[in-house]
Amino acid sequence: MNSVKIDGIAYDLPAIEKDCWVRILNGSLQYKNPLHNPVVANVNEHGVNLRTVVLRKVDIEKRQVCFHTDIRSGKWEELKNNNKVSWLFYHPSSMLQIRMSGTATLHQDDLFADEAWANTRISGRKIYLGDEGPSSLSAFPASGLSPKFDREDPTPEESEAGRKNFAIISTQIHWMEWLWLNSGGHRRATFQYTADGKFSANWLLP
Ligand SMILES: Cc1cc2nc3c(=O)[nH]c(=O)nc-3n(C[C@H](O)[C@H](O)[C@H](O)COP(=O)(O)O)c2cc1C
Repeated sequence: MNSVKIDGIAYDLPAIEKDCWVRILNGSLQYKNPLHNPVVANVNEHGVNLRTVVLRKVDIEKRQVCFHTDIRSGKWEELKNNNKVSWLFYHPSSMLQIRMSGTATLHQDDLFADEAWANTRISGRKIYLGDEGPSSLSAFPASGLSPKFDREDPTPEESEAGRKNFAIISTQIHWMEWLWLNSGGHRRATFQYTADGKFSANWLLP
């Protein structure tokens, strides 16, 4: 049998591949979904750098996953130097880990970023309004925002000052791995994407 039964449904490799992407798309749309907050890793001069992000946009057709960031954050320069990224997702109740890797494209001053900015909530724009960027040293524990924005959300007009610091990082996925933990024996599969959008797939021992 070349499929695995999950909740009574048999999944072959193409079905698992599709299920991963649908789950990830849902993760981007549902803020309470555990897949909404994956970990993104890159490599900098000191080694590997990991951080939690909000999964913002998923394009299943193009195999792209995106997150927003401040261009003054450390990762921005790091990704300019080396655009290789890995994503890590874990869904506890489904006992499912999905790992992806690919290459990042940095969008700050283009239509893709304009569209992403237009779709952000005003409250979400607040974090881009600090005079100094993430990782700036501070003499005391501070948000970096002016006292006014610490207390209240900006108006739509005020929020526009954050646009210059805002970016969306899109990652083109070349590889994906699925791991399902199960008391009847774990299962694992790997998917390798080609430039034409097709993929090869294999079962792996967990
Ligand atoms: C739940 C959660 C969601 C986060 N989402 C983002 C995000 O979408 N983009 C982002 O740049 N940082 C996000 N952060 C902050 C990062 O984890 C990280 O602290 C920050 O981006 C600085 O990372 P860097 O120094 O590697 O650039 C989030 C943190 C948490 C805990």
